[in-house]
Amino acid sequence: MEVLGIDIGGTGIKGAIVDTDTGVLASPRYRLLTPRPATPKPVIAVVSEIVDHFNWHGPVGCGFPAVVKGGVAHTASNISRKWIGFSVQEGIERATHCSVTVLNDADAAGLAEMRFGAGRGEEGVVLIVTLGTGIGTALFVGGRLVPNLELGHIEINGRDAERWAADIVRKDAGLSWNRWAKRVDRYLRTMEELLWPDLIIVGGGASKHHERFFPYIRTQAKVAPAEGKNEAGIVGAALAGARA
Ligand code: BGC
Repeated sequence: MEVLGIDIGGTGIKGAIVDTDTGVLASPRYRLLTPRPATPKPVIAVVSEIVDHFNWHGPVGCGFPAVVKGGVAHTASNISRKWIGFSVQEGIERATHCSVTVLNDADAAGLAEMRFGAGRGEEGVVLIVTLGTGIGTALFVGGRLVPNLELGHIEINGRDAERWAADIVRKDAGLSWNRWAKRVDRYLRTMEELLWPDLIIVGGGASKHHERFFPYIRTQAKVAPAEGKNEAGIVGAALAGARA
């Protein structure tokens, strides 16, 4: 079936029509900037613009950069705090008149990678880490998702890991790939000490450049780039929309 997948990120909001049987994009991707401040009204207006761009009236799946339970956001790290307690699902449904499913963005990317990408057929413990504006994490055990894991916010050296090792920190602080890679390595090794995954899949914006930093990663677990690269979030959001 075809579902409009939308990935709401701290920097960009992107959407594409996805064939959920194959995981292939059935349309070009359309990307707009996340409004600043990223409060509900302007963000929902951008999501509506994406739905209109595709002249879409079918189901919509939406990845959102926060803990999401029953369509409601419960945290806000790279978005406005006004989202906390807000039903993202109802807000988008009201604006678009589409049926909408909302889930955490890293969970969405994980669903896509487990079905169509680097985690296909992997029955063990798989950790997906997205490196972008924030650090998103998703954990699969025997192919089942443990939703809303917020391990991008563990403390390393007394700091929120995300504020130290996210891809945006590399860009904003002008860190070389090498210096940033050492931080990512430290972060992933800390994850390994806590979770002992069999496979770590790295997604998010930085995964497009995996050859620049993977050589510095020294985890025992195999580390693989997300095969869907930065589009896994769109595909996984659509998968969640197809299940609803
Ligand atoms: C949020 C997560 C999100 C991640 C990636 C973090 O700041 O707390 O919910 O998955 O960013 O967007």
